[in-house]
Amino acid sequence: MKKGTETTVYDCSLITLPKLEVDRGAITFASNNREVPFEIKRLYYLYDIPSGSDRGAHAHKELQQLILAASGSFTITVNDGKQKRSFALNQPNIGLYLPPGLWRELTDFSGGSICLVLASHEYDEGDYIRNLEIFRVWKS
Ligand code: TYD
Repeated sequence: MKKGTETTVYDCSLITLPKLEVDRGAITFASNNREVPFEIKRLYYLYDIPSGSDRGAHAHKELQQLILAASGSFTITVNDGKQKRSFALNQPNIGLYLPPGLWRELTDFSGGSICLVLASHEYDEGDYIRNLEIFRVWKS
């Protein structure tokens, strides 16, 4: 796997998780190292997001993530210091894999949306870069 300093926006990928539709609704699931290309150590979710709020605006040095719109929709824009790519997430079974080393901004949350994040490491503030200029220098 590439180090965080070496990744580009083209190392992101959309991952389609299984979706079973039964007469009582639908179910989607994911397993370590099968649908998810890393070992999940943590999950968290963003919700009750006020309209017009943005989230993210940071990068991770080592963390890998799979980010899903478990409900509703939002946009993720990634930046590797040179190029940007945007992904609209709006289906509960399609997630965006983020390798380490990408600045990300989450915008355009629909009302009541839930952003579910599967993460490869436990929470560590030392893994964050929260300043875009410092991120650009770190990537160069
Ligand atoms: P942050 O990752 O900055 O959220 P956002 O998605 O809005 O960029 O985290 C917001 C706050 O929550 C920050 O003070 C750190 C804390 N936090 C934890 O304590 N544990 C966690 O697992 C996460 C993801 C965040």
